Amino acid sequence: MNILAIETSCDETAVAVVNGRKVLSNIVASQIDLHRLYGGVVPEMASRAHIESISQLTRQALGTAMLSFDDIQAVAVTYAPGLIGALLTGVSFAKGIALAKGLPIVGVNHIKAHVAANYIEHSELEPPFLALVVSGGHSHLMGVSDYTKFTVIGQTRDDAAGEAFDKVARVLGLPYPGGVALDVLASGGDAQAFEFPRAVVDGFLYDFSFSGLKTSALNIIHNLKQKGEEVPSEDIAASFREAVADVLSSRCVAAAKAHGFNKVVLAGGVAANSRLRELLAQRTLDNSLKLYIPSLSLCGDNAAMVGCQGYFEMLSGNTSDMTLNACATAHF
Ligand code: KG4
Ligand code: ZN
Repeated sequence: MNILAIETSCDETAVAVVNGRKVLSNIVASQIDLHRLYGGVVPEMASRAHIESISQLTRQALGTAMLSFDDIQAVAVTYAPGLIGALLTGVSFAKGIALAKGLPIVGVNHIKAHVAANYIEHSELEPPFLALVVSGGHSHLMGVSDYTKFTVIGQTRDDAAGEAFDKVARVLGLPYPGGVALDVLASGGDAQAFEFPRAVVDGFLYDFSFSGLKTSALNIIHNLKQKGEEVPSEDIAASFREAVADVLSSRCVAAAKAHGFNKVVLAGGVAANSRLRELLAQRTLDNSLKLYIPSLSLCGDNAAMVGCQGYFEMLSGNTSDMTLNACATAHF
């Protein structure tokens, strides 16, 4: 079954063609240069940019896969969560194709799609497992009992991990989105130089809170600047990265053990973080858990992961119809 997949939830316009777990084409047009001017995503501009490029990207995705619309059996599209205007461009475009070509349409949850990047990468991977999904908008620990059945075990109470990375990076003078640049900067620093807080949410062992940690880093930077002292950017970046990676990996391993999972899956843009990958690999190994991580190209937003999750949704009979609507928040 060839599936045309569309992703427009934030600042990447992406179109792919997949056949089950196999990727036939995967085209991503990033809007980063556009939003960098403003230090963050401008929702209205994101929607416009999606509209401007989506038709051309679809032609390109079909061309790369050496297929035409007649070879497509279904259309998958991210419908939630994300920026509502941005999501609507993809959903409307997908509905147009489905209607014109008489194809079934399947709405895909973006967080589930991030997890599916691992099915593409690891052909042997099957549920059940625990998924840690960390991106610019989300930080979730999810129990995945089946390809389409997810239970929230933990989540952030405030900032997402990627959001915290981006904010600290911005104050350190790094360009948007600063997560990658902060990761690179951190590699030259001392992770023990600053002791940043590891917040615990009272009574919720597997929830996260990154806002205090972020504020703590921002206060240190501002105080040093006010006193006219040099900001040890590399040490701050390293200590901050260590705190985020420590909290995410320790709670992930604890949740896996407490909920009886022997497999752990890492996903989302922040899954590209080198220290998180390293620490989670070490801690899962120490606890006899098998870890699955996607390659860097499949960590960030792309449509291949949407198509792959769409395939499993279709197998479960979760197709939508022309009433499919976009939704800014996640439902599981
Ligand atoms: O999954 P994604 O592409 O978009 C959302 O669904 O939000 O994630 C983007 C986020 C951004 O916050 C970006 O800074 C962060 O992932 N990110 C990283 C790294 N690479 C991307 N954060 C930390 N370290 C990285 N290496
Ligand atoms: Zn994402």
